[in-house]
Amino acid sequence: MFRFPDGVARQFSVLLVAAALAGCGQESDGKSEAVTVITPPVASPWQSSFEDIGRAAKPAEIAAWDIDVGPDFAGLPPGSGTAEQGEEIWLARCAACHGDFGDSNKFFSPLVLGNVTQQDIETGHVAALKDPTRVRTTLMKVATVSTLWDYINRAMPWNAPKSLSTDEVYSLVAYLLSLGYIVDYDFELSNENIAEVQARMPNRNGMTREHGLWKVDGEPDVHNTACMTDCETHVEVASSIPAFARNAHGNLQGQMRTFGPYPGVDTSIEPGAETAPVLVAEVPSETEAAPAPEAGLATSAPMELLTSNGCLGCHQIDNKLVGPAFTAVSEKYAGRDDAVVYLSRKIRQGGSGIWGGFMPPMPQLTEAKAEEIANWLAQ
Ligand code: HEC
Ligand code: HEC
Repeated sequence: MFRFPDGVARQFSVLLVAAALAGCGQESDGKSEAVTVITPPVASPWQSSFEDIGRAAKPAEIAAWDIDVGPDFAGLPPGSGTAEQGEEIWLARCAACHGDFGDSNKFFSPLVLGNVTQQDIETGHVAALKDPTRVRTTLMKVATVSTLWDYINRAMPWNAPKSLSTDEVYSLVAYLLSLGYIVDYDFELSNENIAEVQARMPNRNGMTREHGLWKVDGEPDVHNTACMTDCETHVEVASSIPAFARNAHGNLQGQMRTFGPYPGVDTSIEPGAETAPVLVAEVPSETEAAPAPEAGLATSAPMELLTSNGCLGCHQIDNKLVGPAFTAVSEKYAGRDDAVVYLSRKIRQGGSGIWGGFMPPMPQLTEAKAEEIANWLAQ
């Protein structure tokens, strides 16, 4: 059997631990392990034992990848920014999806809403979390300000992750915290005072690791025994999608497979108005199937561009999602002389008013790439 030499196996597992942590944006006690990896790869066993197979990661590569910020602020780069500065960046780069005040429910649940009280800030427990009828926002749930910093730095804006400068991230975190009245609007957040802010996080005492998800010998978070005989077969529905969220991601029925036992709820109409679901047991025949996509559109799609620029988060080729189906766009403009010019401008600049909803600008796309997509749509 193939075996790694001892040192290699150890480095490999440490690397995996580090990758898992960095990938999830989670902090943990494993931070010190993750650091093991950044020691410059002097005489790495990868090189000595496996010549001609790969190479050791370069320090610059590791530095670009090792951006996680721990709850003890290890890894937090120095910098600062005020809530006021954050507001300006917010309006330009975040508000289209999260709303001017972080309260939009359109693309994601609200980040901020008036559900945090001064008393929560004092106790470190958000009382409204215990009320199942209240909307749960990010600021209500997040226990560590480092998570907010790390997540925005790593993943936002959704359409251009890792495009924010360090000071911009500080400013945006300060702005979000000011919306939750955790800091004042003129507050300047920095690596120097972020620990003071942590001491005011409304749900700082609301997180526990004493359960099976964190500890192998921890308590499970459910307490049940498997039913083996005379089991209850009637299912009582205890909760359902609230009316405001029903159609938030487009009609769920249109996003389900066309066969199988779960046809999906028609969320475009009021609950109760649905007709009884039709169970389709088999794959529909050619004649029953939905109209075939515009010839060639699906097969010629520039998938790499659409995927890497986040288009497919909002668009599908054949179905409406947040934005229109690409086949519908193609049909609408195919005959127009200025289709390519119009579409490539719209793709880069975003806009609204044609299909319903708002498409954010895509400034990271070069003109050439936008034109490539437009050419595909206008074929
Ligand atoms: C194109 C739409 C879009 C834009 C622009 C955008 N976001 Fe987001 N944001 C999302 C979506 C969608 C999610 C949920 C992502 C997920 O869970 O995978 C999210 C999640 C978040 C979260 C995590 C919330 C949680 O509870 O998990 C934060 C914080 C956040 N965004 C902040 C920002 C900031 C700051 C900006 C501007 C720099 C920004 N977003 C720009 C769409 C967007
Ligand atoms: C956050 C969601 C979102 C993302 C991400 C997104 N779009 Fe859109 N897109 C929309 C919405 C909503 C509309 C409808 C806007 C309107 O009614 O004018 C739209 C409209 C369009 C249109 C039709 C424009 C028109 O005037 O008829 C095209 C073409 C398009 N998007 C291409 C893209 C491409 C290419 C990308 C990736 C580079 C992309 N979109 C990313 C939401 C999105």
